[in-house]
Amino acid sequence: MKKNIQYCDKCGEIIFYIEDKYEVYADCACVRRERIALKVAKYKKLSITDREAGNNRFENSNTVNDKEKEFVEKFKKYSQKFKKALEENVGILMTGLPGTGKTFYANCIANEIQEKGYTVLSFNLSGYLRKIQEDFNNKKDFVSEEEKLLYATREVDLLVIDDLGSEKLSEWGMEKIYNLIDERYKARKPIIITTNMNKNTLEDHLLVNGSDKLLDRIKSMTTPFIFDWESRRKPRQSDIWE
Ligand SMILES: Nc1ncnc2c1ncn2[C@@H]1O[C@H](COP(=O)(O)OP(=O)(O)OP(=O)(O)O)[C@@H](O)[C@H]1O
Ligand SMILES: [Mg+2]
Ligand SMILES: [Zn+2]
Repeated sequence: MKKNIQYCDKCGEIIFYIEDKYEVYADCACVRRERIALKVAKYKKLSITDREAGNNRFENSNTVNDKEKEFVEKFKKYSQKFKKALEENVGILMTGLPGTGKTFYANCIANEIQEKGYTVLSFNLSGYLRKIQEDFNNKKDFVSEEEKLLYATREVDLLVIDDLGSEKLSEWGMEKIYNLIDERYKARKPIIITTNMNKNTLEDHLLVNGSDKLLDRIKSMTTPFIFDWESRRKPRQSDIWE
């Protein structure tokens, strides 16, 4: 029999009782929520891209063609059913020309599921490589930045890799990226990748030591979306030349 039951003032759940002379402390919904918020914030801080910038939200999105509309509906569904995506390890590969909105939509998804309490880690690849290189050059911590980030890569609910293939990779860079994606692959959790390479250039780009294992991994982890419309980035107009 539970005695001396105490309830949380805010959520009304039981936080303490005595049963068979034992004192039992329980976490109420507030404590659970707080713990999730801390975890979400931790990975947000570890992320290298800035998702706050530029209001990347579905509410703010406008579409330029029917195909994009279709994509948006699917991306919204993906965010709404993220629990299932996580269970079934369903990821997304967004390919297409610069300025077509790939990063924008990856961020919309990330922001939306983060608000529901899922942890998200997002990198742009050059940022990731720069960060682990810098850390390697002036090593301070016992645990390297790369190890920390790889650990996070296994832990988070969603990993976003932005701009795969934006620069020519050295062998060192290639190996690091292979490790990163392989880590996620082994964790069997969803990944979103954006790239402005097409199928062929991506194939060439991701040949690691003559093996296309990396591309195979990516294909098996993601559903492709090809953004084949015009760039949204307009050349900046100024009347200074008039
Ligand atoms: N649906 C949208 N509604 C409003 N603005 C958008 C939308 N999609 C993209 N944009 C804006 O258009 C610009 C280009 O989009 P974005 O950076 O996502 O392109 P990208 O496909 O990632 O390009 P790149 O391949 O060069 O990385 C950004 O300023 C972005 O905020
Ligand atoms: Mg982009
Ligand atoms: Zn409570």
